[in-house]
Amino acid sequence: MQKIGLLVLIISLLFSNVWGGNAASLYKSHCAGCHGKHGKKRAVGVSAPIKGRSAALTYKQLKAYKEGKLDQYRMGKLMKARVDSLSDAQLKALAAYIASMR
Ligand code: HEC
Repeated sequence: MQKIGLLVLIISLLFSNVWGGNAASLYKSHCAGCHGKHGKKRAVGVSAPIKGRSAALTYKQLKAYKEGKLDQYRMGKLMKARVDSLSDAQLKALAAYIASMR
């Protein structure tokens, strides 16, 4: 029984690493250009710096951009184009990654 528990723990740790890795490279390739490597920049001079905000808020915003429902500074379309091809799981992983940024 204990062995199974250990195995589950190892597997879930492996997966969280894989996810973390994916989110970091996704961020680098899809987001860093505008929001900065550390999420501190105001994208296109308008957005708020996104680092360290709660994952729940960021996920909600990303989903709303994807659905075309968020347009805070009249540049929502720009964001929609960035997140359109990303899955829900990818948006969640990105949101968690951004929340963990220091
Ligand atoms: C081409 C530049 C550009 C890229 C690339 C980009 N963004 Fe944005 N982002 C913007 C702009 C401009 C806004 C403001 C949109 C608006 O009018 O609401 C924004 C807004 C946001 C916000 C809301 C910030 C606020 O002020 O509340 C979040 C969160 C966000 N982006 C995350 C991301 C993530 C995650 C990615 C990568 C998948 C990404 N962005 C890629 C330009 C960009």
